[in-house]
Amino acid sequence: MKTIMKNKRYLSFLMVIVFASIISLLVSCEKDETITYPTPVGGCDTTNVSYANTLQPIFARCTSCHGSSGGVTLTDYNSVKSAADNGKLANGVSPTGTMYSLLSSCESQQILAWINQGAKNN
Ligand code: HEC
Repeated sequence: MKTIMKNKRYLSFLMVIVFASIISLLVSCEKDETITYPTPVGGCDTTNVSYANTLQPIFARCTSCHGSSGGVTLTDYNSVKSAADNGKLANGVSPTGTMYSLLSSCESQQILAWINQGAKNN
C-alpha cells in the first residue's frame, strides 16, 4: 500500500514535469512566432535601394576621382546609370573589384542590389 502511494506521488510528479515542459515549449513557440519580420542579411538593408537617398551619399566620397574627367563618372544619375549599364560599376564595387576596399560590404551589396533592381532613378 505504501509503495502504491509512493508510485502515485511519483506519477503525479512526473505529470507535473511533463505538463510544465509542454507549456514551456508552447510559450517558447509563441515567442518565436512573434519574430516573423524579415531580418536583412547581415543587418544590411538591400530592399528597394534608392539612388538619391542611399547611393548618392556614397558616391559623394568617390567624385574627387570620379568627376567628369573621363573614366567612370559618379557625379550624376545619367553617368552612374551608364556605368551600371556597361558593367563597369558592378565590376568595380563587387568584392573582387578594385574599388571594394573603399566601401563597406553593405555599401557594396546595396550598389549591386540597386543595379539588379534596374538601376532606377529613385
Ligand atoms: C583615389 C581615387 C579614387 C577614389 C576615391 C575612387 N576611385 Fe574608383 N577608380 C579610380 C581609378 C584610378 C580607377 C580606374 C580608372 C577608371 O576606370 O576610371 C577607378 C575605377 C573605378 C570603377 C571602374 C572599375 C572597372 O572595372 O572599370 C568603378 C565602378 C569605381 N572606380 C567606383 C568607385 C566608387 C564607387 C568609389 C567610391 C566609394 C571610388 N571608385 C572611389 C580611382 C578612385
